[in-house]
Amino acid sequence: MRSLITGTGSYVPEKILTNADLEKMVETNDQWIVERTGIKERHIAAPEQASSDLAVEASKKALEMAGLKAEDLDLIVVGTISPDYQFPSCAAVVQGKLGNKKAFVFDVSAACAGSLYALSVADRFVATGAVRNALVIGVETLSRITDWTDRNTCVLFGDGAGAMVLQPTEDDRRGLRSIKLHTDGSLVPILLMPGGGSKEPINQALIDAKSHYVKMNGREVFKVAVRALDDSCREALAVEKLSPSDVTWVCAHQANKRIIDATLERLGIPQEKCWMNVHKYGNTSSASVPMTLDEANRAGWLKPGDVVLMTAIGAGMAWGAGVIRW
Ligand code: UT7
Repeated sequence: MRSLITGTGSYVPEKILTNADLEKMVETNDQWIVERTGIKERHIAAPEQASSDLAVEASKKALEMAGLKAEDLDLIVVGTISPDYQFPSCAAVVQGKLGNKKAFVFDVSAACAGSLYALSVADRFVATGAVRNALVIGVETLSRITDWTDRNTCVLFGDGAGAMVLQPTEDDRRGLRSIKLHTDGSLVPILLMPGGGSKEPINQALIDAKSHYVKMNGREVFKVAVRALDDSCREALAVEKLSPSDVTWVCAHQANKRIIDATLERLGIPQEKCWMNVHKYGNTSSASVPMTLDEANRAGWLKPGDVVLMTAIGAGMAWGAGVIRW
């Protein structure tokens, strides 16, 4: 048995923050942001919206597409690094808001690779027959952990949510194939939120030093990203005896257009095969892959049997790639 994605959904909050808006907040300009990242605008959660609220909106759309009710779900896995609370899980809050009492639920923390990690875990439960209806969500309100005075990071991130319903299929021509995941914990220092955890619990000095915000060495992250994405895509395809030329569509984590272009070039996959939305949403971390998959799906790109290649990388560094026969 394999698991099949039978529903996708996404949601972004209403408020749009443009590059022109950012020009008024920090020493930056539209040309620098577009040339270095491809980002033109991003969406920002309203003060009363937490990650769970975004996740619920995306989930409702995915459930509707799959023809399921929330109470039908047996499992909910949420990839996020900006949950509502340190504990309990964002997944528990989402379950409560959806009104489901049957599912067991938990979060997965793998930063921008979070939804790929979450998908991989849920796939194991569905493909083995342990659960029937699984919901995988990637959601972030990165605006809450962004230092809006740091131009190195604040121009990059956005808020959003994407969701995928997973169900078993007996049709061997369709469904999730390989997902290959990797982590290199020696690279923790190049992208992290240093404060607010057990190493440095919240205190005034930490807040003054802005340690409760994302810190990133963008240049180092960039270098690791392109090679890691290229390698893991080839690895995931090889399991299925596929090569990059067999790929119908690419669904890549939208962190930076230059990273995506360089990865596609190394793989020899034309840019037209990759759904792009980084210009509209910026880097939405774990929400990025399911949001992108949903847009491509609703645009009619994905047809049964198509080879869809997914890939993502983020803090950890944690990365991976997955192959789906749609
Ligand atoms: O999701 C996974 C996590 N993150 C990523 O994938 C991000 C990976 N990294 C990147 O996307 C890129 O490294 C960035 C977009 C973050 C930066 O691009 P870059 O080409 O690596 O620029 P840089 O950091 O080397 O900075 C170049 C210059 C610097 O000035 P000097 O030192 O050359 O005078 C920066 O101070 O650009 C300056 N700069 C800016 N200028 C205008 C940095 N941020 C800005 C800004 N506006 N927002």
